[in-house]
Amino acid sequence: MISQLLEQARIYEKNAERRISENERPAFHLSARTGWLNDPNGFSYFGGMYHLYYQYYPYASHWDSMHWGHAASRDLLHWEYLPAALAPDMFYDEDGVYSGSSIDIPDGRRILMYTGVKKVQGPDHKLKEKQTQCIAVGDGVDFEKYVDNPVLTENHLPAGASGFEFRDPKLVRLPDGRFGCYVASLDKVGGGQILFYSSEDAFHWKYEGVIARNEGRFGRMWECPDFFELNGKWVLLTSPQDMLPGGFEYNSGNGTLCLIGSLEEGMKFKEERNQAIDYGIDFYAPQTVLAPDGRRIMIGWMQNWDACAIREPESAWAGQISLPRELSLKEGRLYQKPLSEFNSLRENRVQHRDVRFSGHLSLDGVSGRIVDIELYIRPGDDNDLFEKFQIRFAQDEKYYTLLQFRPREGILKIDREFSGSRRAIVHQRKCFVGENTRELKIRIILDRYSVEVFANEGRQVMTSTIYTAPHADGISFFADGSVLMDVVKYDIRREV
Ligand code: FRU
Repeated sequence: MISQLLEQARIYEKNAERRISENERPAFHLSARTGWLNDPNGFSYFGGMYHLYYQYYPYASHWDSMHWGHAASRDLLHWEYLPAALAPDMFYDEDGVYSGSSIDIPDGRRILMYTGVKKVQGPDHKLKEKQTQCIAVGDGVDFEKYVDNPVLTENHLPAGASGFEFRDPKLVRLPDGRFGCYVASLDKVGGGQILFYSSEDAFHWKYEGVIARNEGRFGRMWECPDFFELNGKWVLLTSPQDMLPGGFEYNSGNGTLCLIGSLEEGMKFKEERNQAIDYGIDFYAPQTVLAPDGRRIMIGWMQNWDACAIREPESAWAGQISLPRELSLKEGRLYQKPLSEFNSLRENRVQHRDVRFSGHLSLDGVSGRIVDIELYIRPGDDNDLFEKFQIRFAQDEKYYTLLQFRPREGILKIDREFSGSRRAIVHQRKCFVGENTRELKIRIILDRYSVEVFANEGRQVMTSTIYTAPHADGISFFADGSVLMDVVKYDIRREV
């Protein structure tokens, strides 16, 4: 039985989506079917298809009472919308069905596990969001909420952990066949921690312990955990709130964090290294899926809470999902590269090799707003290293966004200050790509409303949204000294 609230959302989204033309959407990134989208949820492979659910408010382009939207794809490149999967229609989730994940159970059905939110009076008499973990069971499209919801409540918390900051369950299958679940929680001193639960049947859960603790280092609450093995190590991805700046690695506000370490006896995670996941402006709450061929593929919400105002409030949709990225570990760092199959969408190759220039430069055939560009930059004069190199894109007579490389400092900067935004929010981010790197390889993937930059074969990634009008498709270069450059540019094919 589908609740009235879900039925209403399904009817609404079907009608509202018709009012958005293809050209108003990203060409190859998934965007909200209508209204608002934030975190990816339940990213999974099921019945020969990838499924992606997402935090969703269909009725307006701002965050409000959370639903789960749904899309599916055979190849992770072309998405098809399916009916909204969850609505906040029960007494225990009436204030929102927050983020979560999905998994198959042995009888062939699949479950969604999400955070149910209900406002209650907190100890200070203010309304606070009580957060519990709940389950819905179904065939992948239609789900029924489990009669014994919620399945994880404050009774399942370790001493001192908050029942108001307890969310974003990530389900996994454990090597011994049982189910596991990682949940974000706030400890008694206001630091994020990731809790681990186990279950025989995915319905009845037992608290096992804490996988990782913030210890006052990375913001406060950690949101949206994902935890998996990669190239012989263990990786914890999470999105901390209230970060403090830390060199070129971390910025104030909501950020992303990758902890790399090993897993010891009794599910004890031993951290060895930490880094940001994405160094751009707009990337948050990523989730991964294990593809049938063993690749670990990550996607994220291509937005950040601190910079949401970039999108005009009257737009028909708000919120995009990043390109799927293949993850690997090399030299103790997380590497990301665009899904290999994405290359099959490339066409109209334009190539310029060994271009030596200084000052401003435009190149024949190098323009476009839905493009994939590879650059290889090095000094044009061995005795006189340039100070800065820039590529400008999404450019018209008035506006542009730029990527700037300063080899002496080893800093790559994304800057959309002049992209035509009416909001005075964060428009720049910097990333350290290696001191005295005389050479840099970058791949820039541009869609109508975003740019994703992969530096040094994916060692650093910077993602940002850009809302300059799509006719702004100029691309140009600038260097204040001699630069030698190779450029390969492709258009991205759009038909299905
Ligand atoms: C992260 C987050 C999650 C929560 C959801 C609510 O962006 O704050 O922790 O489940 O968004 O929409």
